[in-house]
Amino acid sequence: MALVVCTRRLAISIAEMLPGHEVVVAADNWRTRLPEADALVTTLRERIDDSVLAAAPRVRVVANCAVGVDNIDVAAATARGIAVANTPDVLTEATADFTWALILAAARRLGEGEHLVRSGRWTGWEPDQLLGVDLTGATLGIVGLGRIGSAVARRASAFAMNVVAAGMPASGGEVPRMPLRELLATADVISLHCPLTPATRHLIDAAALALVKPTAILINTARGPIVDEDAVTVALETGRLFGAGFDVYEDEPRVRTRLLACPRAVLAPHLGSATTAVRRRMAELCAQAVGEVLAGRRPPNLVGERA
Ligand code: GLV
Repeated sequence: MALVVCTRRLAISIAEMLPGHEVVVAADNWRTRLPEADALVTTLRERIDDSVLAAAPRVRVVANCAVGVDNIDVAAATARGIAVANTPDVLTEATADFTWALILAAARRLGEGEHLVRSGRWTGWEPDQLLGVDLTGATLGIVGLGRIGSAVARRASAFAMNVVAAGMPASGGEVPRMPLRELLATADVISLHCPLTPATRHLIDAAALALVKPTAILINTARGPIVDEDAVTVALETGRLFGAGFDVYEDEPRVRTRLLACPRAVLAPHLGSATTAVRRRMAELCAQAVGEVLAGRRPPNLVGERA
């Protein structure tokens, strides 16, 4: 019987999907279970680096309950013969929906409006109250036209928006491509959908923000460190940017105090894939990956290749 250690309780119990194996939710104790674990089910909150893998000599698979795997040293896992699996596809549409929730909220200043009503300080309709920007006819710039970026782009036709894209993949699809600098200068809404890699860390820094229109909105539902949060805070404070919608942060769950104080930033607590059905499917995919590897088979959604 293999031991499957889950670092957190998932949306469903995966024990029934892994008959014949022992499944434990180790929560805060997960590190102490590493020496005896045969499989790990992790989330984006745990850093699985080579020192963690070294402490887990029996582990054959790390199933990450997320599509992003920047929390895992995939190369180190691969070198140790450990399979890494993720949960793509099942969360694409939900994450695209949530991206649009942030686009609409930032464009129409929904966060500020909600705060006004809840504060009891709303004195009634005013002709110039909380004026936003129009999306109809505006340009949506997608950075990273992968699965989620493409799903966000598809929804733009309902708003009669023009869509352009930069970043990987470099070709394919019907969305016109342009260099990132051009996209930043052109787009009214800039939405980030690239993975976090050394090349994309602080992709949106002060120099990038200097290119952006002051009427533009920046949306990040990808990974926090793609944006230099201090630089974007300054851009919001100084009116270099109309608004922002963030679901992810550089140092989650800490959010910089100055960013918290920016009324034009709509801030969500990493909810992109957070629907009941999607989180269940993600848990199922993790269980499936673990089951396949423990049975000596290739898991679905293998990230990288095993040595
Ligand atoms: C969430 O951020 C994910 O990568 O699935």
